[in-house]
Amino acid sequence: MTNQIPRTMGQQFGRRSWAEPWKIKMVEPLSMIDRAGREKALAEAGYNTFLLHSADVYIDLLTDSGTNAMSDRQWAGMMLGDEAYAGSRNFYNLEQTIQTYYGYQHIVPTHQGRGAEHLLSRSTIKPGQWVGGNMYFTTTRLHQELAGATFVDVIIDEAHDPSNLHPFKGNIDLNKVEALIQRVGAEQVAYVSLAATVNMAGGQPVSMANVQALRQLCDRYGIKIYLDATRLAENALFIQEREEGYADLTIAQIVRQFCSYTDGGWISGKKDSLVNIGGWVAVNDWTLFEELRNQVVIFEGLHTYGGMAGRDMEAMAIGIVESMQDDYMRSRIGQVRYLGELLTDWEVPIVQPVGGHAIFLDAKRFYPHLPQDRFPAQTLAAELYLDSGIRSMERGIVSAGRNAQTGDHYYPKLELTRLTIPRRVYTQAHMDVTAEAVKAVYDAREQARGLQMTYEPRYLRFFQAHFKPL
Ligand code: F0G
Repeated sequence: MTNQIPRTMGQQFGRRSWAEPWKIKMVEPLSMIDRAGREKALAEAGYNTFLLHSADVYIDLLTDSGTNAMSDRQWAGMMLGDEAYAGSRNFYNLEQTIQTYYGYQHIVPTHQGRGAEHLLSRSTIKPGQWVGGNMYFTTTRLHQELAGATFVDVIIDEAHDPSNLHPFKGNIDLNKVEALIQRVGAEQVAYVSLAATVNMAGGQPVSMANVQALRQLCDRYGIKIYLDATRLAENALFIQEREEGYADLTIAQIVRQFCSYTDGGWISGKKDSLVNIGGWVAVNDWTLFEELRNQVVIFEGLHTYGGMAGRDMEAMAIGIVESMQDDYMRSRIGQVRYLGELLTDWEVPIVQPVGGHAIFLDAKRFYPHLPQDRFPAQTLAAELYLDSGIRSMERGIVSAGRNAQTGDHYYPKLELTRLTIPRRVYTQAHMDVTAEAVKAVYDAREQARGLQMTYEPRYLRFFQAHFKPL
């Protein structure tokens, strides 16, 4: 294992840059509204970037979810949509693609990732049980809690430190899993919820050695592992680069091997799989599959479409294949790193090492004068939009929500603002403009006063909460 963080460009003579393995065939115009317009739009949105109209946004780095550009092959696949209610040929193509690339046997399609989380949580959790996971994800934990489980974070401590350079900051701390088992008993652990990469930690990867060791531990106690494989192809690049013995394996081979240590998994197809909508859950156990198929017809749709149109399933099948091309993945992560290197060179505090899908600005170090209940990451997202029309997302105290028992905010160690890079959408020049905007906001950091929450929805409050400036 090496601790070195590769840079995308040599700084010396003789540098060799990467370039995207595609060219642009169709464009969508962008424009920026003026400062007065941005002030009005942000006030109307309650200082919540989720509530902005996208027409008022210049560069949209809210999320990498469903914001991907599809290839000409995928658009051609859309025309092959077989919109039969039952048994669409696109489903069988998707099923076979998932079996080939992820290695799971039984596939249930869903409309997107949280649909899969809903079905899996209902089918595997008994009320009062526990789920251990490598850091929470918002929708994942909520579905586990709604099914009656208590979530326990078992990620390594390094993940909570934004400047720790551990190469696999998404890893699970096996001692924490063991401690959970000792505390509640193995039969009370519904499963271990493993995500690769870990979104809320900064898109940080999990090593192959870690999932292997987790498998051994769980086998000793008869505990299942379910994998959130939403960004597993991205995770595979980090294994290829940083973990000894994987440099000569392809992304596809690494993904397949990783999944083989788990009992099943799910994805939001809106990330890795290069589509705008879709997801699935897949398992190897027939009885669980039957239960998932029972649930899917209640909540999503028939078990051969699960909320997707035939054309969506075709586009996802093609997207899965494209997502595992090594040169594509190098350019994908290379673009994220390019932005990270600009900000690092300008000494803007970001989560290091740079992860897979986004740059996470460290709002605690950005605004050290703002206490966490003045929502520093939310404030930063608002300031960045005001400066340049760039839309980012809060990933801090607002996203963490409240403890259902005590009613208090969760106070996460990480208070981050995420600049999420859509796949195949923006150019290197957009990254330059973004870095310069962040730098301008950083230079004006002492003027920031923070926000006050004026409206709070019951669930997943970050999506719809309103704020006002202090
Ligand atoms: N798991 C992970 C790791 C995710 O990042 C997401 C979504 C989901 C599950 C849920 O999938 O949105 O298709 O229902 N993440 C988006 C984001 C929303 O912006 O990070 P979904």
